[in-house]
Amino acid sequence: MLVLGIETSCDETSVAIVKNGKEVLSNVVISQIDFHKEFHGVLPEIASRKHLEFINIALQRSLEESRVRLEEIDSVAVTFGPGLLSSLLIGVNVAKTISFFHNKPLIKVDHVEAHLFSPFIEYDVEFPFIGLVVSGAHTNLFIVRDFYNIEMVGYTVDDAVGEAFDKVAKMLGLGYPGGPIIDKLSKEGNPEKFNFPLGAIDKHYDRYNFSYSGLKTSVLYTMRKIGSLDEQTVKDICASFQKSAIDVLHIKTKWLSDEVGIRNIVVAGGVSANSYLRKKFLEDRDIKCYIPSVKYSTDNAAMVASLGYFKPTPARYEDEPYPRIQQIVKGKRKVR
Ligand code: KG4
Ligand code: ZN
Repeated sequence: MLVLGIETSCDETSVAIVKNGKEVLSNVVISQIDFHKEFHGVLPEIASRKHLEFINIALQRSLEESRVRLEEIDSVAVTFGPGLLSSLLIGVNVAKTISFFHNKPLIKVDHVEAHLFSPFIEYDVEFPFIGLVVSGAHTNLFIVRDFYNIEMVGYTVDDAVGEAFDKVAKMLGLGYPGGPIIDKLSKEGNPEKFNFPLGAIDKHYDRYNFSYSGLKTSVLYTMRKIGSLDEQTVKDICASFQKSAIDVLHIKTKWLSDEVGIRNIVVAGGVSANSYLRKKFLEDRDIKCYIPSVKYSTDNAAMVASLGYFKPTPARYEDEPYPRIQQIVKGKRKVR
């Protein structure tokens, strides 16, 4: 079973061909970072224009690399949302066109779910598991019983964790995207130098929700207090910020694990590429943690094609892309 996957929800134009959900024959990712850098974020207008420019190139390369002809594909899976509407439209329309003219089933994939199940490409993950999706747009905690039973337990009340990395990097004058830069600088910084707060850490109130605005503000006030920052202080701020931002994810995931007695944990999404996060979760012997390789953590079409195989949700041509998280919200658990 060969699935063609298309991903254009944000600033990566990606096309992949995956066999039986696990064998990645090609995964072409054309990054637009260079075009968004100067704005320290993704500009929707630029993103959709670039997707339009890159999508055919990505499709062609993906077919060439995998040595698969379009006629040999069994189905076309595409991200319908959540994401930037004008960007999603490009991928969805290309997928609809291929589906229509080549008579292939069109499969609807949710971007957050694609991250959530991305470790399935490389690992045989067993249900049930606790899923933590951490990206530039999402910070969500789920209990996942199977592909169709996904319960959202926690979410961020303000910024997403990746967004916090990007904003703190901007404050420090470090460039975009901030995650990989802060990750790198933190290796030479002292994580104990500054005592930044953990967001929404109260055990009873907002038990499984996240908050990053307080942490961000705390970094800003610390910077103002110090005044001019030398190179080492910047590294110490990075390491201390990173520790607070990631520790709270680990702590709350463990609370949930203990409460529901599920030891299998999936951490996915762009921020799961973070080396401190990987160490923290993978070295924890109380849990069995699955984190995708970096190439499947940040946005990519392989995870879309893979989920299109494992969860082939049929789409109709009149179905429209959606901007916000919706598909998987099956009801929120009561906060204790
Ligand atoms: O999943 P993704 O590629 O796109 C979204 O769906 O949002 O995630 C992008 C986010 C950005 O905020 C980026 O700064 C962050 O992931 N990121 C990282 C690292 N690599 C990417 N954050 C921390 N450490 C990293 N190594
Ligand atoms: Zn993503």
